Amino acid sequence: MSVEEHVLEGTVALVTGASSGIGAATAAALADQGAAVALVARRGDRLEAVAASIKDQDGTALVLECDITDEQQAVGAVERTVTELGRLDTLINNAGVMLLGPVVGAPLAEWQQMVQLNVLGLLYCAHAALPHLLRAAADGPRQVADMVNISSVAGRVARSGNGVYSLTKHGIGAFSESLRQEVTGRYVRVSLVEPGATDTELASHNRPEVLDIMRSQFGQTMEPDDIAGAITYIVTRPRHVAINEVLIRPTEQVR
Ligand SMILES: NC(=O)c1ccc[n+]([C@@H]2O[C@H](COP(=O)([O-])OP(=O)(O)OC[C@H]3O[C@@H](n4cnc5c(N)ncnc54)[C@H](OP(=O)(O)O)[C@@H]3O)[C@@H](O)[C@H]2O)c1
Repeated sequence: MSVEEHVLEGTVALVTGASSGIGAATAAALADQGAAVALVARRGDRLEAVAASIKDQDGTALVLECDITDEQQAVGAVERTVTELGRLDTLINNAGVMLLGPVVGAPLAEWQQMVQLNVLGLLYCAHAALPHLLRAAADGPRQVADMVNISSVAGRVARSGNGVYSLTKHGIGAFSESLRQEVTGRYVRVSLVEPGATDTELASHNRPEVLDIMRSQFGQTMEPDDIAGAITYIVTRPRHVAINEVLIRPTEQVR
């Protein structure tokens, strides 16, 4: 995939879950393309480190320490981005949590956490960002805006042991396609990215007994930069090209 240099100059991107993994790599990649980047997550120290490395490369980064499962904080992050960076052209809805294991006997708190972040957190950000994305598409430097929603292979195929995670990711897929049909005529492109196994902190939040099972299944993984590259490709396409969906697995991942 070839990406032209600095295609995003003059634009502003907000990345949720920018303190680690795919979000941190994506924020750096978009900054490399010239976007000013708002970094959203709960761990401020980690966001500061991501921001510092972007600034070292002469990029612009705004740290927004917040919990997007709180509607007010999610809306506040979008509003501060527009106030402090001037506009919003690109929203990367990346923050997510994956708590696996059997449905029978699962702690309800884990399901609540996944629905609150993967579904509601994403919706709060999408809702708050849409008026700004529509404005950017109408009067922005590129005359097009992007919302990229990070799903998963689990958003395509449900399997035993990933019931509620898969539910949240299937939901994101349905929402993304419906919204895409609604706004694509106004040049807001809505894209879905469905990664397979990627080496991040995601699995580490699971219960020890679930982690043991996961470890026995670990195979080849991708790097966060591999997914960031796909996201960057999507948002740097010319105005008349919309990449609607990307399913991306490590080559050795069979399922
Ligand atoms: N890694 C994989 O194999 C894989 C595969 C398929 C899909 N995905 C998806 O990729 C996305 C990114 O995950 P990752 O793999 O990069 O994992 P990660 O390193 O654990 O990143 C998750 C990010 O979400 C943030 N986050 C968690 N709770 C939050 C909250 N309440 N408010 C704001 N931010 C919050 C975390 O930051 P704080 O803790 O600082 O808040 C962190 O930056 C997720 O949607 C995940 O489902 C990953």
